[in-house]
Amino acid sequence: MKRTLAAFALAAASTLMVGLANAADEPIVIKFSHVVAENTPKGKMANKFKELVAERMGDRVMVEVYPNSQLFGDDNVLEAMQLGDVQLAAPALSKFSRYTDLLALYDLPFLFEDLDAVDRFQQSEKGQSMMHSMKKKGLIGLGYLHNGMKQLSSSQPLRVPADAKGLKFRIMSSPVLEAQFEAIDATPLKKPFSEVFTLLQTKAIDGQENTWSNIYSKKFFEVQPYITETNHGLLDYLVVTSTEFWMGLPEDLRSELKSALDEAIIYGNQIARDKGIQDRQAIIDSKRSEVIELSPEERAQWVQAMKPVWKKFEKDIGAELIDAAYAANRR
Ligand code: SIN
Repeated sequence: MKRTLAAFALAAASTLMVGLANAADEPIVIKFSHVVAENTPKGKMANKFKELVAERMGDRVMVEVYPNSQLFGDDNVLEAMQLGDVQLAAPALSKFSRYTDLLALYDLPFLFEDLDAVDRFQQSEKGQSMMHSMKKKGLIGLGYLHNGMKQLSSSQPLRVPADAKGLKFRIMSSPVLEAQFEAIDATPLKKPFSEVFTLLQTKAIDGQENTWSNIYSKKFFEVQPYITETNHGLLDYLVVTSTEFWMGLPEDLRSELKSALDEAIIYGNQIARDKGIQDRQAIIDSKRSEVIELSPEERAQWVQAMKPVWKKFEKDIGAELIDAAYAANRR
């Protein structure tokens, strides 16, 4: 009897050891959820990250990429991250307003002249520290990723702000973007990215603002006869993870993952610059949509109409931060 009990205990112990060994051998799964097509700066960056991780840490970490809102939309991905259901995402900076006031800076119309200015600010001490403004909410920014400057697409030609009066525009969930369209007497409607094409196609809305690569990859240009090249705002991303997940990783793995991510971001940023040019041209070549270029006088009217929005958000964002970002336009 004694011998039977000892054998049973031994068998149970060895089963437990195998179980523990298997658990230790299981690769850590990182689910990376995003809302855009794979053929975009973010889609390509996410796939590049997956590739680099497989090459360098394949036995320890597995990245699963879910594009096109397949897993989560931008309206619920951050809650899912806080609950541990997804480990990486890269929502547009406009989609963090429930978590921090600071990132609203990037939505201010006509703040940055181009991506070089954006780079200068994002890499500065102030720009970097903003990535950590949601730590108390359990979220940590790991890096900025570009998409590009936004253009205005519409069912009607828009040359001056008065042309947009009374029109309905889809916006991301940002109070600054809401104020921006109200400033030109248009009606902003907060809707998820996954619904924009249908809303445009069915004419439930008149227009939207987005980058060349999103307008092209999601075929908005096929259902919007006019695109005004305003470059009025920025659409960039924050690659974000949960503090609990990130800090729970072994240190060596965390640092390897961070360097793979940095490399994927550099790659994605170059794609963003290239696609800004290529996708604009592809839209022009398609002849489905007319691209309207503004004269300096017309553009000045958009600036004059939209810029007062800055004052409205100065207290929340901080005048010093706004000044520092604007100063990045001067080389
Ligand atoms: C994205 O580029 O991730 C989506 C932007 C949008 O919602 O318009």
